[in-house]
Amino acid sequence: MSVFKLPMVAEFGFGNIDAEHQDIADCINDCLVTAAKGNDALPLQHLTMLRQKMAGHFRNEEALMEDLGFPLLAPHRGHHRNILDKLDRLQADCARKGGVSLNDVRGFLEGLIEDVLHADLPFKTFLYEREILR
Ligand SMILES: [Fe+2]
Ligand SMILES: [Fe+2]
Repeated sequence: MSVFKLPMVAEFGFGNIDAEHQDIADCINDCLVTAAKGNDALPLQHLTMLRQKMAGHFRNEEALMEDLGFPLLAPHRGHHRNILDKLDRLQADCARKGGVSLNDVRGFLEGLIEDVLHADLPFKTFLYEREILR
């Protein structure tokens, strides 16, 4: 099965952002490959670990934004919160039905894409505007 590849436009070249995005993408890809083998192939703990990785990344990203005075930090925080709420609902669903399906993992992938390709790009623009990135 094909796996998700982070597009070049999403690369920051700044701080640990790229490494953290890549780490989450790798983890999601592992989950996609495992989940594709069957409904019971992926333990629920994988999603818990993935959710923790994403929450950790969001915390680091927000700290970086705060340090640099990113003016859109408040809505960005809200964006992160919405993604985590969605992942929590997904996890609760999986716990209720006692298994993780390929679609559930795709829900996590959507969360990553929402962060990397939608929410984070204005921060990249800000870094260029402030000439922190050139
Ligand atoms: Fe991010
Ligand atoms: Fe973000």
